[in-house]
Amino acid sequence: MEISPSPPLAPALFDFPPGRLWLSHCKDGPLPRASADAMAAILQTELRPWDLRWNEDFLDVLNALRESAAALLDVEAQDISLVTSTSSGLEAIALGFPWQVDDEVLIPMDEFPSNRLPWLALAQRGVRCREVELWPGQPAALPDGEIQPEQRLLDAIGPQTRLIAVSWIRYQDGVRLDLARLGRACQARGVHLVVDGIQGAGSMVPSLDGVSAFATGGHKGLLGLQGQGVLWTDRAFRQRLIPLGTWLAAPNTFSQSGQQAIDEDHWSTDGRRLEAGSPSIVGCCALNASLRLLLSVGGAARIEQHIRVLQRRLLSQLQAMPGWMAESKRLTALLDAQRLGPILSFYRAPEVLDALLSRGEAQSISASMRHSFLRIAFHGWHTAADADRTAQWLGSTAA
Ligand SMILES: Cc1ncc(COP(=O)(O)O)c(C=O)c1O
Repeated sequence: MEISPSPPLAPALFDFPPGRLWLSHCKDGPLPRASADAMAAILQTELRPWDLRWNEDFLDVLNALRESAAALLDVEAQDISLVTSTSSGLEAIALGFPWQVDDEVLIPMDEFPSNRLPWLALAQRGVRCREVELWPGQPAALPDGEIQPEQRLLDAIGPQTRLIAVSWIRYQDGVRLDLARLGRACQARGVHLVVDGIQGAGSMVPSLDGVSAFATGGHKGLLGLQGQGVLWTDRAFRQRLIPLGTWLAAPNTFSQSGQQAIDEDHWSTDGRRLEAGSPSIVGCCALNASLRLLLSVGGAARIEQHIRVLQRRLLSQLQAMPGWMAESKRLTALLDAQRLGPILSFYRAPEVLDALLSRGEAQSISASMRHSFLRIAFHGWHTAADADRTAQWLGSTAA
């Protein structure tokens, strides 16, 4: 078995009580202590607004978050917009795109509502949203190493298709789409690719080549708070959107002087163009501190490498257990085909999963279930011992 490297994020950076094994950053990432400290410091400016320095304590915090998010995603800070959530990032695209009646959007079947409802709502503007099966028999049939979801989406493109919106990593079955392949092929066909990136951001490295927009909340793998996320948009694509931003979205004059310049453009061309009003400064501060921490240990590339070792370690132990053999083989095939993100989603009967989860909780092990999938999500703080403990828990309760 491959020796696991020491975790890139020391567990002591978090507030885990002894024995607590949190395998659920796909639900909610833990806030690092350093981020809580950064929040506590900025909270002073809320208690004492007379001490607030507008540039240092407000605008610089927002700029720092844009810079950190850009560094993590390997993009430019000017293309980052601060948004409250994945959903609001996707809504900025859905509401702002210059739709014509009879245009079409494609989304995969069984998307999380954040990447479904904003597109379905466009029916009121005469835009059709079509849901595409990503593999034969979805969702009853389980995804395996042979699936080609990108090809299925590309094959579904019709003359009216303007945009495809996908989850990079799916919340229930954990399948990861090949963004590079899909992005380039969409670009070649003149179709925009919009990505819900929340289940991979912070723990996996995305390719934004050919992608038009990538939205993520900050509270899962990015280890920030709920209510603060980021949206990356391609520059030319962003100029085509209705600018939904308001006063902070203007070029600098107003935020600096409080004067609206008569001859100034209303909206800046950078990511602020899509930012609506004052963000949560506390949320921005926390997310920035979390991103700095991720960057300081080598960013998502380092975390991804670590997760892979742990996933293989767990799967190889489960392969020897009769109750887990088949799922372990299926997930190993998906891993070999580079079809997984940070979540290992084991398919089991719901009553088995309920029993497993409650016995896990009795041992301070927290995982989560979506539909009939048990989700085990590793991140940078997990150790080889955590993977072994997970195997023992699963093996002892569902053999
Ligand atoms: C794939 C996916 N998209 C979006 C969301 C919701 O994100 P937000 O609250 O940032 O809109 C979730 C939350 O579980 C998710 O799994």
